[in-house]
Amino acid sequence: MRKTLILKVDCENPDGEKIDLAAEAIRRGGLVAFPTETVYGLGADALNPKAVREIYAVKMRPPDNPIIVHIAVKDDVYRLAESVPRYAERLMDLFWPGPLTLVLKASGIVPKVTTGGLDTVAIRMPKHKVALALIKASETPIAAPSANLAGRPSPTVAEHVIQDLYGRIDVIIDAGPTSIGVESTVLDLTSDPPQILRPGGATYEDLRKALGKVDIHPSALAKSELPIERARSPGMKHKHYAPKAEMILVEGDFSLIVGKIMELAEHYAKAGRKVGVLATDESAPNYKVGVIKSLGNRRDLSLAAKNLFKTLREFDEEGVDLIIAEGLPQEGLGLAIMNRLRRAAGYNIITLG
Ligand code: TXA
Ligand code: MG
Repeated sequence: MRKTLILKVDCENPDGEKIDLAAEAIRRGGLVAFPTETVYGLGADALNPKAVREIYAVKMRPPDNPIIVHIAVKDDVYRLAESVPRYAERLMDLFWPGPLTLVLKASGIVPKVTTGGLDTVAIRMPKHKVALALIKASETPIAAPSANLAGRPSPTVAEHVIQDLYGRIDVIIDAGPTSIGVESTVLDLTSDPPQILRPGGATYEDLRKALGKVDIHPSALAKSELPIERARSPGMKHKHYAPKAEMILVEGDFSLIVGKIMELAEHYAKAGRKVGVLATDESAPNYKVGVIKSLGNRRDLSLAAKNLFKTLREFDEEGVDLIIAEGLPQEGLGLAIMNRLRRAAGYNIITLG
């Protein structure tokens, strides 16, 4: 067991001394969990292969799943990427700092362990004062996957990081809840047109406005499991976001969803299952059976995104063994939410209407 230092800092005005302590750990090759605007990340010096190897070990992450490199100044892109197309610069100007990760051809300075053996590197500049201060003070780009054990829902508060990683990493910086709640959008700029590999905080609609044309990889929709050879982003093929409970996602026409979930909840409760229902404010009063939790108003997708991972973890804490979840609209942040729900359900999906 490692000694884990927990540092509480203000998210708007982080204490420089505490940031320096954490940055020292990064420079020594240690592991530091830190907040970003999307989810908490588990950071190590991206250019130190030994330190990055530790991330995989601690998270129990499959070694072929590459890690995003976080930077605080745009100039670092030109060191980490072999070439930077013009439209990449436009995207950096429009979306950074923010929840957009760009996949580019990697330069020779990026260790193979960071890219999971690929010849591309994923780069993003987070929009969070603590993350940016940590990267600057560390004087190196920081490789960071989400700070959860592989397969579990991503952490949106420091408490989730403590649940999964306390005693295995050096520092946890606690700056309160993250603001977006789902991870960044991963956009592959090595394909033409650019392709969304994972939907996230930067929406398809905004990217299309900026680029004119953008593709969505089939796995980003996550309607069903893809054969391994079609999984462009290696993270696509691994189990993800999963609560301990089994999960069924019911999607399609909202008026039909509610009735179906009522029926399923009753059926499984009678069969002796401890049922949880992942609902919304509009539907919650209809459900009478099981542990009912709402993601908020159906029209407020940013609130649903913020609540999503936290709520999945809460069902586990209540000892629920089957979660029946309502699908949400797929526009805006809804695309990222539905991707997470479908994968959390292990593609156990009922489509109505
Ligand atoms: O918002 C986020 O992106 C958070 C915060 C901490 O920045 N990070 C995060 O990292 O979600 P992770 O490791 O949980 O997810 C990274 C995703 C994975 O699906 C991985 O396969 C993909 O990005 N990825 C990383 N490098 C890639 C590359 N070179 N080519 C294709 N996909 C890549
Ligand atoms: Mg992750």
